[in-house]
Amino acid sequence: AEDGYDLWLRYARTDEARSADLAAHATIIVAPGASPTLNVAIAELQRGLAGMTGVAPALSGTMRQGALWLATPASAPALPGETAGLGGEGYAIRSIEVDGKAVTLIAANSDLGLLHGACHWLRLAQSGASLDRLDIRSAPKIRLRLLNHWDNLNGTVERGYAGQSIWDWWRLPDWKAPRYTDYARANAAIGINGTVLNNVNAKADSLTAPYIAKAAALADLFRPYGIKVYLSVRWTAPMELDGLRTADPRDPAVAGWWRAKADEIYRAIPDFGGFLVKANSEGQPGPQDYKRTHADGANMLAAALKPHGGIVMWRAFVYAHDNPDDRAKQAYADFRPLDGQFADNVIVQVKNGAIDFQPREPFHPLFGAMPKTPLMMEFQITKEYLGQSTHLTYLGPLFKEALDSDTFAKGAGSTVAKVIDGSLDGHRLTGIAGVANIGADRDWSGSIFNQADWYAFGRLAWDTSLSAEAIAREWAAMTFSPDPKVVEPIVGMMMGSREAAVDYMTPLGLAHMMDTGHHYGPGPWVSDLARPEWNPVYYHRADADGIGFDRTDSGSGAIGQYAPAIATRLANPHTTPERHLLWFHHLPWDYRLASGETLWDGLVRRYDRGPAYVAGMQTLWASLKPHIDARRFAQTEAFLTIQHREALWWRDASIAYFQSLAHRPLPAGSPAPA
Ligand code: GCU
Repeated sequence: AEDGYDLWLRYARTDEARSADLAAHATIIVAPGASPTLNVAIAELQRGLAGMTGVAPALSGTMRQGALWLATPASAPALPGETAGLGGEGYAIRSIEVDGKAVTLIAANSDLGLLHGACHWLRLAQSGASLDRLDIRSAPKIRLRLLNHWDNLNGTVERGYAGQSIWDWWRLPDWKAPRYTDYARANAAIGINGTVLNNVNAKADSLTAPYIAKAAALADLFRPYGIKVYLSVRWTAPMELDGLRTADPRDPAVAGWWRAKADEIYRAIPDFGGFLVKANSEGQPGPQDYKRTHADGANMLAAALKPHGGIVMWRAFVYAHDNPDDRAKQAYADFRPLDGQFADNVIVQVKNGAIDFQPREPFHPLFGAMPKTPLMMEFQITKEYLGQSTHLTYLGPLFKEALDSDTFAKGAGSTVAKVIDGSLDGHRLTGIAGVANIGADRDWSGSIFNQADWYAFGRLAWDTSLSAEAIAREWAAMTFSPDPKVVEPIVGMMMGSREAAVDYMTPLGLAHMMDTGHHYGPGPWVSDLARPEWNPVYYHRADADGIGFDRTDSGSGAIGQYAPAIATRLANPHTTPERHLLWFHHLPWDYRLASGETLWDGLVRRYDRGPAYVAGMQTLWASLKPHIDARRFAQTEAFLTIQHREALWWRDASIAYFQSLAHRPLPAGSPAPA
């Protein structure tokens, strides 16, 4: 029975006509050369075709009509120019004629490019696309496309909603679960090329010899798929593991410890990617404990990795317990003055927004503000604040909205995507990371639909110009069926689902209304947590007069962190996009929205709209019953029931709470209980 294990590599049997068509476009595989990577490319094609048609094409040395030809300049010197500009990972797929025979050429500069090309061809095959007259060229603009696992060494996953960690640390390195290989296949198919194995809230133990050996075993498995392994490190590891008296980055003994540690890691993992660091953030130790800067810390680690070609990803997710300033301002305040001070193998990893993976945030003001420093994007694929495993809230539009945001750093068109792909400021070290939603659950991600978020992250990391809708369409076709009767309603459900969650959780620019610290369900009234910025009341600031966080000059001044072209618009609520209204402004309940309704009425209307959208998804899903296998149908049906119930809970709790402050009647026609 279908259980979601196969992700986008289902290769479901097609009908006879399509089967014949596929077979005719892959009569044999011609793939001169030999390498572990080429072998997995061939194996994936054979497996895919065997699944879809019932027959795996043979590997052959002689060209034939309908061949799939995998070629690099090394294996086929007769292909001049074919792979120019494709780099080390890109590929071309072209329908061509060789000696009068129609064949499909997959060309690349490396076997890894061939693997990516093969996966693209399989994607076309699975999603019902035509395989004729292909003329495709694709190469990633962003160099590091990473998953960040927040997996603990004890098997739990921070903010993970798909069961325990997939890393079976106890039985590694000897037992290499087959699942690791499937993980690599699924990631390679969407172009992920690196994985940080452990939680950013790191334990020093991850750097001990036994754990290095475990990481090395995973690195060996992932290598043919072009996936490098990275580790999160704990700043005080030298003290905790080897009794050093300090972790001061300027102390030579500390630097020496890290150099020796890097040497040790590279002996086990010659192509180890590098370190991810959460320092001086939420209680984690860091260089500031020694009156040093983030740059001092990052550069010391970078020096240790440099001789081996490794990099440091230094996170900008910082806010201090003793800093009374607006939390949204603190990362910028800490990091912007350090622009230009980081070593050339350091990249600063910035969350998409300045608070924390909310259903909607304006883009982080650091993007565009540190032109001399490579910045990488950190998205959260796991839905800590978006309903966790059960709510269907497709994140493609959220990722897209962040990438397409215009920083105006160098005039109009200076999008966040251009900041992180390096084109705006001419950086070669570029990256994007997604906090994984992967766990040991049979379906990997806690729900079938959460798989789409992992998929969308990978596809956008490879090509930020893809549309969220096109990605949803591909995913739905491969996950369920290419039949438009299936794809269209599913894409319809997905595309509005994130906006629906914004509506029932945090409409009009509200943020962090979730109950703390699990962040599940509403808690806008919570006000008793030790740190003010952990309390929802800190964010909405509602009282009898109005609601919202004033970030103009009369408030925290956070808008001053954006480029002047943006800041000028944000200074005025009437020129602030309504989706961010209460993020930037504290406004009276009777403030008039663009629609003419009052802020109170508009807020209630949005809370009403959220659950209504979910009800619409339930109806669409019910109509798909004849087309979806029983098990996956039932899971989504049940989860939508949960989501609907909880969307109503969000609506009713939020409206009741805000009404207790605003003392206003519900607008006419609101279905919320008075
Ligand atoms: C959020 C999340 C934490 C996580 C932190 C981080 O605050 O709730 O669990 O550790 O982000 O990104 O470091």
